Amino acid sequence: MTDKTKSTNKMWGGRFEMSPAELMVRINASIGFDKALAPQDIRGSKAHAAMLAEAGIISKSDAREIARGLDQVGAEIAAGTFTFSDALEDIHMNIENRLAELIGPAAGRLHTARSRNDQVALDFRMFVRDALDAFDDGLAELQKALAEQALAHAAVVMPGFTHLQPAQPVTFGHHMLAYVEMFGRDRARFADARRRMNECPLGAAALAGTSFPIDRHMTAEALGFDRPTANSLDSVADRDFALETLAAATISAAHLSRLSEEIVIWMTPQFGFVRLPDKWTTGSSIMPQKRNPDAAELCRAKVGRIAGAFQGLTMVMKGLPLAYSKDMQEDKEQTFDALANYHVALAAMAGMIADLEPVPERLAAAAGSGFATATDLADWLVRTLKMPFREAHHATGAIVKMAEKRGVGLEDLSLADMQKVEKRITNDVFTVLSVASSVKSRTSYGGTAPQNVQKMAKSWLKRLEKGRKAV
Ligand code: ARG
Repeated sequence: MTDKTKSTNKMWGGRFEMSPAELMVRINASIGFDKALAPQDIRGSKAHAAMLAEAGIISKSDAREIARGLDQVGAEIAAGTFTFSDALEDIHMNIENRLAELIGPAAGRLHTARSRNDQVALDFRMFVRDALDAFDDGLAELQKALAEQALAHAAVVMPGFTHLQPAQPVTFGHHMLAYVEMFGRDRARFADARRRMNECPLGAAALAGTSFPIDRHMTAEALGFDRPTANSLDSVADRDFALETLAAATISAAHLSRLSEEIVIWMTPQFGFVRLPDKWTTGSSIMPQKRNPDAAELCRAKVGRIAGAFQGLTMVMKGLPLAYSKDMQEDKEQTFDALANYHVALAAMAGMIADLEPVPERLAAAAGSGFATATDLADWLVRTLKMPFREAHHATGAIVKMAEKRGVGLEDLSLADMQKVEKRITNDVFTVLSVASSVKSRTSYGGTAPQNVQKMAKSWLKRLEKGRKAV
């Protein structure tokens, strides 16, 4: 349905003879989602106007009017009284149009030496940067909750698993600290992405720069960037800052997913390793006995859409010739969605971890099952009898087989039984067969000994007090 009357588009109506088709408006409009960029857009425009005035490109009084008008637009959007229009396509034109309604012709000077291409590159970059800062805070919260659990339960024994089969006893605190390390690396990845992306694209204009005597260093500084970007084509053409953030978020969401899965398993009646207060669970409409760990399940699942956004944006960007193409408008929705969902998962996980209560009896009972101290027995043979480890492994295997046949634990065998396999074994062996002595002996750096765990948890808690500098 094409309107044959001359276009009334104020931004570029000059060379157009027809209004856009209704479907053109529909496929083109991004205002439905890019309104999320309003705060960044207003901030960027204010910095741009101030720079234009400083450089003598517009008058100081116009710049003042523009700033005042932009503040009012911001207030209207925040208050929910702003009317967004599809015909005005996106947040940039919606804001500029309203600015013109509010302050008149001076509004038309704001877009001097600027294009929507560098404008959107700036807004989106600042949005992603804000998200990165929020992630760092969220991850630090989560690390703190984990480190506090680690300190409180530094000596609580539990089974350590490989293949989800009992392997060797560890402590609950040690298990918590494993995640502190993972989320620490996630923070470092985000911090690294932030450092790399913190260059200001404003002033690249459409793609080639501008003939106006703008001061890109001034706007870069005003907007919290380390420097302006160095190539105008690159400035408007790439979205690698979003890709990198999504890639790091995908990795971190995978960490969240693994921790979630452990909580789900630990909460089953069969494991019963932890309790989680009702506020993190839901019931069933049909089965009255149920307490489902829905928050953990959702945190487990979020990686799907986050990895999807990373894939999706990679596919949007691949094969795009320089510089800007409208394809790049497809960068936002999935990124917004992924970043918001990652953030909420992070917060929910921090809340769950803070409220998690390990059940020491269940953990200890499980820690002792499955001949989890067999390695300690083998190590004893090596240490005390100077046996080569391979031989000790073999002898221990024979002892485990004997215990298994009788349906008892290693520590329940008699000395005489063990001596049937290796006659030099003495009573001293029983000191290493208990779970507590096993974990206590693992004092190697990074090992699970409660004293290690306590020390490590304390050092993490101290580092976490330093906030962002801890990364
Ligand atoms: N809404 C657009 C986007 O998100 C803004 C940039 C438009 N630039 C253009 N040359 N049409 O990408």
